[in-house]
Amino acid sequence: MSRKLKWGVIGLGGIAGRTIPEGIAGAQNAELSAIFDIDQQVNAEVAKESGAEQAASINQLLDTDIDAIYVTTPTHVHAEQVRACAEAGKHVLCEKPLGMTVAEAENMIELCDALRWFARSPVDEVSAYQTRTDNPAEYPGTISINMKFKDGKIGRSTTTFDAKMPYRFNIGICGSEGTLRNNEIFAPKLFPGQNDFMKIPCILPDSGDVTHHPFQGEVSRFLDCIINDRRPFPDLYDAAMTQAVCFAADRSAESGRSVPISEFENLL
Ligand SMILES: NC(=O)c1ccc[n+]([C@@H]2O[C@H](COP(=O)([O-])OP(=O)(O)OC[C@H]3O[C@@H](n4cnc5c(N)ncnc54)[C@H](O)[C@@H]3O)[C@@H](O)[C@H]2O)c1
Repeated sequence: MSRKLKWGVIGLGGIAGRTIPEGIAGAQNAELSAIFDIDQQVNAEVAKESGAEQAASINQLLDTDIDAIYVTTPTHVHAEQVRACAEAGKHVLCEKPLGMTVAEAENMIELCDALRWFARSPVDEVSAYQTRTDNPAEYPGTISINMKFKDGKIGRSTTTFDAKMPYRFNIGICGSEGTLRNNEIFAPKLFPGQNDFMKIPCILPDSGDVTHHPFQGEVSRFLDCIINDRRPFPDLYDAAMTQAVCFAADRSAESGRSVPISEFENLL
């Protein structure tokens, strides 16, 4: 791929400290062209380090000839900023989560209307419990979510910030032909004679400071999708679906009832 796409970034001081150098600067088909942060000192420092043009406002950033914008500001400003970028005709890579409320996510989805093409709803219903300890977080620190998928599969996700333990990100997939458990696999059909889990030596996502995240691959793939007109994964629909499941889990834990995802159908 020879064409280089020009990037703008909004929000520079946090996770962008990793994703700009590792993701954008590391991608062959990307060029960091213009940046903006409300903190003028951060703005100036990143401009100096990266050689990118320092914009004085989001509008000034949008007035440049950048192709794509990476929105990496705090979540409560994502909706208005993604809207401004989309209205300016820019491709947008927005940090998770998409927005703070269903209405915000709805607005963003309507704006980027291609989303409706992917009108499928794999998660059907969500049932959750949550508990609060004396953790000073403004939300309950522990939640356990059960999900029923439309095709009959079931899944469970549990998160806790309250437990005394090192950061761990456990993943398990149990299927009729085999099972994955973090870096262990049991698949006797693939490995005849296998009678116990087999360990694959690899990097696991067990780092709270996301040192393992493949930021460069993320940016390259996003640009490849723009240039070759491919669907990115995750796209806006995937992000909205994830957020709908989270909203349904919160509603279930608060109300004590199972919540059908259809209660968030406007989001999907
Ligand atoms: N992908 C990941 O692994 C990952 C990790 C951490 C955070 N995040 C997400 O990234 C986003 C940013 O998180 P963070 O921890 O970097 O946030 P942060 O609070 O450190 O803020 C990032 C920067 O945004 C700037 N900013 C704030 N309001 C702004 C505005 N209105 N306009 C322009 N700049 C503004 C701040 O000055 C700061 O420099 C969040 O949505 C978060 O959920 C993703």
